[in-house]
Amino acid sequence: MRTDLQYTHDVARRTEHLYAKVANVIPEVEWPTHAVYVDAINQLKPQMGAVILAHNYMTPEIFNCVADFRGDSLQLAREAAKTKAGVIVQAGVHFMAETSKILCPGKIVLIPDPLAGCSLAASITGADVQLLREKYPGLPIVTYVNTSAEVKAESDVCCTSSNAVAVVETMAREYGTDRVIMIPDEFLANWVQGQTQLKIITWKGHCEVHERFTAQDIRDFRAANPGVVVLAHPECPPEVLAEADFTGSTSALIGYVGTKRPKRVVLVTECSMSDNVAIEYPEIDFIRPCNLCPHMKRITLPKILRSLETLTHRVEVDPAIGIRAKASIERMLAVGKPVRSYQ
Ligand code: 13P
Ligand code: SF4
Repeated sequence: MRTDLQYTHDVARRTEHLYAKVANVIPEVEWPTHAVYVDAINQLKPQMGAVILAHNYMTPEIFNCVADFRGDSLQLAREAAKTKAGVIVQAGVHFMAETSKILCPGKIVLIPDPLAGCSLAASITGADVQLLREKYPGLPIVTYVNTSAEVKAESDVCCTSSNAVAVVETMAREYGTDRVIMIPDEFLANWVQGQTQLKIITWKGHCEVHERFTAQDIRDFRAANPGVVVLAHPECPPEVLAEADFTGSTSALIGYVGTKRPKRVVLVTECSMSDNVAIEYPEIDFIRPCNLCPHMKRITLPKILRSLETLTHRVEVDPAIGIRAKASIERMLAVGKPVRSYQ
């Protein structure tokens, strides 16, 4: 925390257009605390030649007030691959920053808190992938981006929740097989299984945030909020997805809200998503039960400012691993069609 930052008239004036964006989710009394950091970050960013990539789960003051690019994992990877900036600050979790570093090995990639992990990434190692390859020789290994560089390096291709079905089917065609290994998210793999004739072999990894939702939660949302439309992320258990009206990646859920404009909606995913989407659609009634991702919530404005000031914490990837991991990510980028950026 910086104790010298003051909420002066100049800071208030320079940030008032940003407060106007978030006023329906951030109380006015809290704004000065955020505004001093928002202002300092936005002044320092161009001086450092930096861009901030923010995931849809970032809190509204980060997502709406300092981010240059916003989106789901796939959109952020695409932005990282094409940015001209020399410094990338990843407002997201570690695997996302690692993905940026793998795609841009010559750039400085910063994560404001190196402890921002992910239970899916922690569920599998490179050695586990080698064992799977021995057990199922010749089958393609499709790996969710929520994994370490080492795991990506041992895989044939990556996927995100935006493009998982397309990637799995493309790999099956290319390998001439009807069986595909999809790791490490068991629930995402089950969801893909429901949309393809292929046989999907999976792993027992779970997202600690989405696995906590239950089918009873969905029935309770419906009972308490008549007419509510239920949208769920595919990292949720199958019985939750069976109760939902629509399942998709974070950006697919945002896209559904934007095109269908339900009167009342619940996003069965991480908490900050509803705040960020509610800003865009103030006329929609967002029911807000949600689960917090403790890793995403490690990223705060003070840590982003410190990251820019000190150019820490730098994300490094062993170049030998990076080259192989990059091949898996680039193969995915060649398969998935671009999705609309949420900006
Ligand atoms: P998306 O790719 O849908 O943004 O999901 C990333 C994530 O970590 C969800 O928990
Ligand atoms: Fe990982 Fe789940 Fe957090 Fe996404 S929400 S970063 S999958 S722990």
